[in-house]
Amino acid sequence: MGKTIILDHPLIRHKITLMRDERTGTRDFRILVEEVAMLMTYEALRDLPMKHITVKTPVAAAEEPVLTGKKPAVVPILRAGLGMTDGILRLIPAAKVGHIGLYRDEETHEPHEYYSKLPAGIEDRLVIVPDPMLATGGSAIQAVDFLKSKGCSQIKFMCVIAAPEGLKALQEAHPDIDIFIGCLDDHLNENAYIVPGLGDAGDRIFGTD
Ligand code: PRP
Ligand code: URA
Repeated sequence: MGKTIILDHPLIRHKITLMRDERTGTRDFRILVEEVAMLMTYEALRDLPMKHITVKTPVAAAEEPVLTGKKPAVVPILRAGLGMTDGILRLIPAAKVGHIGLYRDEETHEPHEYYSKLPAGIEDRLVIVPDPMLATGGSAIQAVDFLKSKGCSQIKFMCVIAAPEGLKALQEAHPDIDIFIGCLDDHLNENAYIVPGLGDAGDRIFGTD
């Protein structure tokens, strides 16, 4: 059974509030989404496997822990997940990176896949899937479906803002994965946008409209 963690941390909440502000421009928005992702990674990777090695300090030899196991993979959902990727890689720079391209149909809100490329040996790696927004949950569910079809079994989904509707859908579709959320918002509006949310994450990261 996976766990769902809502990161209730002053630094994360402060930065998300700045991201929500419609006056925050592309440059600052990019910096903030990367910083939030980095802070979330610290919590999300709390259970990384470790082994002990002998290290000789200037004072004494000691048995101390280091990370072990196959390198994790970061697989952002394009486009907006790219904005979180560098923040995650700041903490795990040796991670492999894959991509899943999905866009949401404006009328039906259903996700459509247009690209995918995964690192070799993905089935044996911890896979972190960042996407700033979990709205209906359709994109996250399809991305996890795809990763599981490739043999992945250890998956952590990470989003900056989630709607209760999307969280419920993702938990029901994939009860085994871990879900990390910066802030759980109120509801979806009639266009399946998160309220209050922050608008269109992809447009705000890339300066498109
Ligand atoms: C946004 C967001 C998620 C998706 C969430 O992407 O980045 O991928 O919508 O909505 P859902 O939970 O209802 O599926 P969008 O489809 O706008 O594509 P973009 O990142 O290319 O802008
Ligand atoms: N995608 C976004 O970028 N924002 C939303 O509020 C919903 C989906």
